[in-house]
Amino acid sequence: MVTSVPTKNTQVVLNERPKAGPITDTTFRSQTVDIPELKDGEVLVKVTYTSLDPTQRGWINDTRSYLPPVEIGAPMRSNGLGRVVVSKSDDFKAGDLVQGLINWQEYYVGPAQSLTKKQVPEGGKEIDFLGLFGMTGLTAYIGLFDIGQIKDGDHVVISGAAGAVGLTATQIALSFPKCKVTAIAGNPEKLEYLKKLGAHNVLNYKDEDFKKQFKNVGLIDVYFDNVGGAILDQALAQIAPYARIVACGAISAYNADKPTPIYNYFNVISMKATWKGFIVMDHAARFKDGITYLADLQKQGKLEYKYHVTEGLDTVVGTLQDMFAGKNVGKTVVKVAKDDSDKSKL
Ligand SMILES: NC(=O)c1ccc[n+]([C@@H]2O[C@H](COP(=O)([O-])OP(=O)(O)OC[C@H]3O[C@@H](n4cnc5c(N)ncnc54)[C@H](OP(=O)(O)O)[C@@H]3O)[C@@H](O)[C@H]2O)c1
Repeated sequence: MVTSVPTKNTQVVLNERPKAGPITDTTFRSQTVDIPELKDGEVLVKVTYTSLDPTQRGWINDTRSYLPPVEIGAPMRSNGLGRVVVSKSDDFKAGDLVQGLINWQEYYVGPAQSLTKKQVPEGGKEIDFLGLFGMTGLTAYIGLFDIGQIKDGDHVVISGAAGAVGLTATQIALSFPKCKVTAIAGNPEKLEYLKKLGAHNVLNYKDEDFKKQFKNVGLIDVYFDNVGGAILDQALAQIAPYARIVACGAISAYNADKPTPIYNYFNVISMKATWKGFIVMDHAARFKDGITYLADLQKQGKLEYKYHVTEGLDTVVGTLQDMFAGKNVGKTVVKVAKDDSDKSKL
């Protein structure tokens, strides 16, 4: 079969930096550009799936962070998967599955060395490289084990528990026979699902009496924080001696003008707690162990993984907005290429 080489590329680029608040319909715009000629060492990749992540909201702010801000006019940065169409690199050939920062666009053209070759394991599916065995699954693993130092018998509280990271973290904690697990999320359907998975307490942070409900679950040994803000503040008020607070994310602040003040930080001192931030990409040396662990948990039937998938590059902006509105359960992914054969395995 002869694959024709594309000449045009549709991209979703950053149009303007949003002020505080959610992204709007003018934050991004679509454009079609010519595909440049490949240089030595470069590849042309057809993007199949792009990952949507809360951290992308931070990447479009002009502030100091773990990655530089996306430039105005540049394709939106995004982790994704694709198939090599043309290669001018000795390390890749047409048809190879690759992963990397291949952005919101139909085709990636760039240095092959910035991509990683992937092989779907027997019985596995491509999309898992963005979810269960990708950054979000590994964030849950690193967060609970390396940062949270989870041990059997702990009371583990997880916010954002029905999202990509939270769902995995909740089920890892539930796999410890003596751990008590409290899962916090934003709607009754999510709570029902978390209960079905085995969470001992499920709390809706939008309930009027949430504070009271949260207080009733008792002292916390590990708080896996995906959201920051008022939920974090209350968790700090309830930490047990030697508690571990896993500073994973703060989605409640990503759209805010100013983060919510934290009043109970002094409990970190009096309870001799550890409050530690991390960025999963710094823990690459642990990824192999993490993938083995998660695959094993899945084989044992103790880890159910969900994807929230939309189709077409034109859905990226709306799907990112939906994620901030809590419409996803599990990992949010956009299927960019229309003819990908992995669809049946979603
Ligand atoms: N440190 C790292 O290396 C690392 C890596 C990956 C992700 N993260 C962080 O981990 C967190 C979860 O990421 P994810 O990819 O798994 O996203 P996700 O949980 O799949 O999606 C975001 C969820 O956040 C909840 N949410 C939105 N606004 C909220 C608010 N104001 N207060 C409380 N909850 C809110 C929504 O669920 P509800 O319906 O429950 O509101 C939404 O579904 C994010 O903060 C992300 O930045 C960190």
